Amino acid sequence: MASARRRSPLPWLGPGILVGALAPAAAILLRARSGALGANPIAEALNELGLMALVLLVASLACSPLRALFGWTWPIRVRRLLGLLAFAYATLHLAVYAGLDQGLDLGAVLADVTRRRFIFVGFTAFVLMIPLALTSTAAAVRRMGYVKWKRVHALVYPAAVCAVVHFVWRVKKDLREPLVYASILAALLLVRVVSVALRRARTGGGGAGSGPVAAASGSNAQA
Ligand code: HEM
Repeated sequence: MASARRRSPLPWLGPGILVGALAPAAAILLRARSGALGANPIAEALNELGLMALVLLVASLACSPLRALFGWTWPIRVRRLLGLLAFAYATLHLAVYAGLDQGLDLGAVLADVTRRRFIFVGFTAFVLMIPLALTSTAAAVRRMGYVKWKRVHALVYPAAVCAVVHFVWRVKKDLREPLVYASILAALLLVRVVSVALRRARTGGGGAGSGPVAAASGSNAQA
């Protein structure tokens, strides 16, 4: 009875998201091995990995607004996982770019980062995601203290903005797809700003968000 009470609700949620999110990477690998990635397999892999990174990053950002709007708590429990998966895809995206597209020529990578604005902003997004991934554990929350940790995790917002700008600037003609992500991100940021303002108004300026208990339990990797 007691163990049934302690059992996490929706126990399949985390594993389900993990398998579902890793499936596209496995599919890219299998298609690459069988030569089914099209005429330009490196560009195709690069784009698919980048898109997955963006989708997962935006999904991780949707967790708090979903709770604020609908009172759902389950998205908060998978927020860290979504953020880490986004980082994993961004790392694979960068690895394919630096390793396969640029042949590990670090001079060429550096030249691209400094000369091409869409690469520069993508690189910025990636750099901003590093501290988020490094401090995503409950131990990091305890070590840093909740307030400082939450401040660091606010980097997820500029990271997502840079990722969307990277997508917008990469696309030369048809802006519809990147603009869908830009609109979703703008809506999520709006919900976030309004819910923080309402919470501050209710608590007279305080309001620690999800709270240190949730954060220390490891369920709250991105503020
Ligand atoms: C060092 C960091 C990065 C570099 C060097 C980089 C580079 C690239 C390159 C070369 C492309 C393909 C351009 C083309 O084929 O014309 C691309 C596309 C893309 N990247 Fe990145 N990127 C970086 C970081 C990121 C990050 C952090 C995200 C998301 C979180 C991201 C999301 C995307 C998306 C969504 C696309 C377009 C996908 C599509 O067209 O379907 N990138 N990136």
